[in-house]
This record gives sequence, C-alpha cells and structure tokens, in this order.
Amino acid sequence: MLSRSILRQAAIAIVFLSAAASSQTAPDKTQMPWLDSTLPPDRRADLVLAQMTLDEKIQMVHGAGWGVLRPGDPIPPRSNFGAGFMTGIDRLGIPDINLADSAVGVRMSAYQGRYSTLLPSTLAAAASWDTDAALLYGKVIGRELRAQGYNMSIGGGVDLMRDPRNGRNFEYTGEDPVLAGTMTGAVEKGVASERIMNDIKHFAFNDQETGRTVVNVLLDRKAARESDLLAFEIAIGIANPSGVMCSYNLYQGDYACENDYLLNHLLKKNFHFKGWVLSDWGATHSTVKAALNGLDQEMPGDENYFNDPLKKAVQSGQVPTARLDDMVHRILRSMFASGVVDNPPIRSVVDPFQGRDDAQHIAEESIVLLQNRDRLLPLQPTASIALIGAHADVGVLSGGGSAQVDSPGGNAIDPQPGGSKWGVPIYFPSSPLKYIRQQAPSASVQYNDGKDTAAAASLARSSAIAIVFVTQPMREDQDAATLSLPDNQDVLVEAVAAANPNTIVVLETGGPVSMPWAGKVKGILEAWYPGIGGAQALANILFGAVNPSGKLPATFAKDDSQLPHPIVPGISSHDDNSKHPPFDLTYTEGAAVGYKWFESTHRQPLFPFGFGLSYTTYAYSGLAIDNATRTVRFTVRNTGQRKGTEIAQVYAALPATARESYKRLAAWQRVTLAPGESKEVTLPLNPLYLSVFDTGKDTWQLLPGDYKITAGASSTDPALTGILHLLP
Ligand code: BGC
Repeated sequence: MLSRSILRQAAIAIVFLSAAASSQTAPDKTQMPWLDSTLPPDRRADLVLAQMTLDEKIQMVHGAGWGVLRPGDPIPPRSNFGAGFMTGIDRLGIPDINLADSAVGVRMSAYQGRYSTLLPSTLAAAASWDTDAALLYGKVIGRELRAQGYNMSIGGGVDLMRDPRNGRNFEYTGEDPVLAGTMTGAVEKGVASERIMNDIKHFAFNDQETGRTVVNVLLDRKAARESDLLAFEIAIGIANPSGVMCSYNLYQGDYACENDYLLNHLLKKNFHFKGWVLSDWGATHSTVKAALNGLDQEMPGDENYFNDPLKKAVQSGQVPTARLDDMVHRILRSMFASGVVDNPPIRSVVDPFQGRDDAQHIAEESIVLLQNRDRLLPLQPTASIALIGAHADVGVLSGGGSAQVDSPGGNAIDPQPGGSKWGVPIYFPSSPLKYIRQQAPSASVQYNDGKDTAAAASLARSSAIAIVFVTQPMREDQDAATLSLPDNQDVLVEAVAAANPNTIVVLETGGPVSMPWAGKVKGILEAWYPGIGGAQALANILFGAVNPSGKLPATFAKDDSQLPHPIVPGISSHDDNSKHPPFDLTYTEGAAVGYKWFESTHRQPLFPFGFGLSYTTYAYSGLAIDNATRTVRFTVRNTGQRKGTEIAQVYAALPATARESYKRLAAWQRVTLAPGESKEVTLPLNPLYLSVFDTGKDTWQLLPGDYKITAGASSTDPALTGILHLLP
C-alpha cells in the first residue's frame, strides 16, 4: 500500500503538471508587486495599470470573438470553450478570463466530455425562499466551473417577472424585487465563495424575449427604482459581483449598454458597484457613447467597437485615458478581489453524486404543492398508479437557450452524440417512473406516453390513481404566446381527470401556466424544471418522505386576460425574433408587478404569490409590532400530524401618502416545526423595502405614518394584521 506522503507528493506533482499544461507563460513574479495577495485589490490593480501599454489595456476591454458560439469562427487557443474569452496579459501575470454561461449549471460541457450538474431552475430555487439553498446553488456552480477550468460565471439573472410568458423566467427569480434580489444575490454569493468571478444580468428591463434587441422600455424612474431596479440593487448589494451584464433592450430611448442613467448614475454611483460592466453578446452599439456612458467591456468583441475604434477614440481624446484606465481597473480589481489570480482554477473531475444530492435537496425545497383535495397526497404505496405523459418514463425537462446544461448521455428522450441543440427541449435522465416504482415496490405502476388521449384515459380508468405529467419547454429568444400548456396537454389532463377522480397533475414548466382543469383534479404539484435530482425529489414528495414546503415566487393567473398585457407586447408582428422591428413598450402596470397588479386591480388569480400547501397545517398567532425597532413578532404553530417547514411571510401596505394600492413583501422566514410545536418568529423590517423613491432628491424616503402589516402563509392570507407607526 502506498504511504500517505507518497500519495500526497504524487498529487502535488499532478497538480503542478496540470496547472502548467493549461496555464499561460509563467511570469517572473519577483518583478510583480501586484501579485502580493496582502495588498488591497484596488492597489494591486493600480500597480498593474501603471505598467500597461495602450494596446494591452485595449486587449482587456473586449472579448476575443464568438468562438464556440458561432460555428466556423476561430477559437482562441487558450479558450476553455465557454461562451466568452478575454486574453490575459502574460508578461504581467494577468490571467485570461474564461467565461461560462452557468445560470442553472455549467453550459456546453458535452463538447469537451465534461459533466455538469443540472440544478433546478433558479425560479424553482426562489420557490424555496431559502437563502441557504440559494448559497448552495451558487456553490455547486462555482465548484464545477473551477473543476472545469473556468474563472468566471455568467448567470445571476434577476430581471423581474413582469410577464409570466417570458421565455427566460426560469433563469430568473420571480416577480417580487425583494425575494428575487435576495435569492439571486445569495446564488451569486455562493458562486463567489468558490473563488470564481460572479455576475448579475441582464441590466436592465430584459423582461421579455420578444423583440429583445429592439424593444424600448418606457417606465418612469420612481416605478423603475421600486421594481426591477430594486431587485438589481438588492442582488448587487448581496453578491458584490465581479461583473454586471448590460442587456440587449433599450430603456427610455438608450440601449442598456450605453445608458448613462443605468450604468454611470445608478450602477456605479448609487449602487457603488466596483466591478465591470460587460455587454450581453452583441449588445454593444457604439464606441464613444458606450465608453462614456459606462460600458467597460464589449463581449464577445468582434463588432470591434472596443477594439481599434476605442484605441483611436482614446488617442484622439474623445474618450479620456482616465476612462479607459477605469475600465481596466474595474476588471483587474475584480480579478484580484475574487481570488482568481491568487487561486486560479485547477482542472479536476466534477463530483456528479454530490451535485445530484445538492440538486435534489434544492428541488425538495422548491416543489410547490398547489392543490390537495381530500388529502389524496401523500400517496399510499399500495395503490395502482397510471403514470401519464411528458416522458415521465425517462426523465425531466430542462430550460433552453444559453442556460441549457448538457444532459449526461445526451437528451434522455433522443440520445445523440454531441451537445444540446438550440431550440430542442432537453430531458435529463432522472426518471419519475423509476423513482415512483422505487417508492411503491408492491404497487402496479404503468406508464402511458399520453400521445393517444383515449389510451391514456383508459389506463387512468383502470388504475386507482392517475398522475399526469405536463411540460412547458421554454428558452431564451422566445416567449410563450400564451399561458396555456402547449401540445394539447390541457385536453389530455381533462380526459384523464374525466376517467379517474383521483388525478394528480405534476407540472414541469418554465413559470406560471393556466390550468383550466384545476377544479377537476385532486392534486397539483408545480415542479418547475426540477434538475438532475428532480425525479427523486418528486417521488419523495408524492409519497410523503418529504413534506412539501415551497411557495410560489410568482402569481399564477387564471388566463392571459388577467395580465397587464393580455398579449405579449410585439409578439404578433413578426416571425423571426432577430428581425423584429423596433417598438416602444410602456409598462402600464408601473411598479405594480405580479401580485401588486392583481391586488390593485382587484383580480383573483388562480394561485397567489407566496402560496403553497403542506401535508401539515399551521396556525399564526400573537402579532406584536415594535415601532422603535421596526420589528414584527408572531408565533407559528404546527397544528397537523407531520413535521413541516412553513414559509411565514410579512407584507406591508404603505401609508396613504405613498398612494400605493397594494402591499409589498417585507420579510419572511422558514420555520421548521414538529407536530404540535410552536415557534416565535422575530423579523426586523428592512427600511429599504418599505421606502418610496423620491426622484427629485434621487434618494429613498421612508414615509412617516401607519403601515398596515399582515403576517401569514401567502400574499393573500391576512392571518394576522397590525399597524406599524413610523414617526416623522
Ligand atoms: C444571452 C446571455 C448569455 C450570452 C452568452 C446571450 O444571448 O442573453 O445571457 O450570457 O448570450 O451566451
């Protein structure tokens, strides 16, 4: 047997070898005081900058082309085959930046024979309302990027769910700025904890995919600060990101990537953002305007706005050298602050088992029980079960576009060599049939693919329980035209429900969908895109090994007519999204996004924001409000028979002077309770979440007056009410 020390030496030798094999020309570190990790990142950046030539600076402020993203384009020799690459400065010991899309797991691993964990969608993670789960989420991404040789993550989407049909909602974190900002911030903090440069995107108002490169979003600044921009403010405050990616669309007449208000005024001045602004891929539209208005790096860079044209603009004085230095400083200081210079990633093997366990844990906290008539769930393991539809025999659905993770073994429903194809829905090999059978070994569990409605109904009729799986594939660059499930799945559910009174529907959707059959089925579970541990998580919930605790991070409308824009703006006027004519989009709902819109217009949704059931029940009592410390206190008791976790929520309606006709989410806590157990919950209210934005003074203002406080199980459950008095 080899001794431990020999093994350790061998391991060290391998580490050195692999680091050398993948690294740039080794710099002479004795001449590089900026490599002293005890110095502050800004000082280190200044020391490097002082040594840099103009050409070297220009090299750092643009990417090195589309590479793998555009077939036939050159791939830079040291590219790690991710979505982006910036060439480092070898002579100064500044590493390349290898960026990988990694919203829900690391993208494009198949081409390199790598494995990446598919996490539940970030919208799912938001349904856990659990910042620890969000931190873990980011850690999984960070450690897998590191193992695959990347030093920067591109993810962290926190665009608000203004439209539930937005194709990218699954990569975002819902409709409420406080929940979304908190959860995305925690995810990106988790990425950074693995010493990987993190990112927040798409700044700002990339709230729909239809016409995303031409849509001009119109929304006054007050409403903007209190909605979409608040989500960014919170997420950026928590994650302290290396990068913020500006978006494709325009805001108030200017492209987001050359928008002085968004980039200079808000992000850099008001939010104190110290990292750099990188453009979305192809979202740079100018040299001088973009440089002066706050863009720091053009990605992927072959339009050359920040290549030779920027060099000339600096030489001619149109863009001051100080501004170019600021761009480079921001990149360098982020590299030092994040640890990627001092601790560059060293390639190793991703641990798929740990990844699966972590993904399953997050899924178990994310799945939302929306309906459970007659307490049909959890299921008895003895009943005969008809499992119908959505490829539930082989796998679970994932989200598409640049957030697509490659499935191990290829698409579970059509395994082909190579990576995922844009626009093709990808299923992962986490089989609901297999894990349901595992939980119910003595039951007869039969599968029908649901393609023939009559055959599916016939199987349902002859079984004690029918579980229908339905899916809604969603992806970047395309919105759903309606909230309806595609491919006649509503008809399938209706037919099964008519054949079997004990029907349960499991949804794998990008976001909210309509459910015209909701009154005819007993159980409804929203599983989102549940990730590589999704089937295990679902089986655990169906049979009660796990008590569901997730709550909706978005309102589920009854149908499209209830939405602020009953038709997705611009969707009917084109076929090819890339050729969409420019158009203005006024956010008529203002800051009243999601549940705030429903409340202020007195609409009753199908399922409200914050809603989710459990296999136990909870009671709320004893609300006490401390005006001086702005703290809310109350007791939650488990009144049922099972241990469970309740997500207790506090909402605040502002004083009349705010002229708001809705309440706001102000705080929440996950409370785990044994049967009969009570716990007192104490929640300080963050003044930012209660403030209005004063555009005249360009600052937040906490109004004096009476704040109506409700504490309860969802946005529409006024279990406890009270008043918070704030003095002037
Ligand atoms: C997406 C970004 C993504 C980039 C690189 C763009 O189309 O909007 O979110 O990071 O591509 O793949």
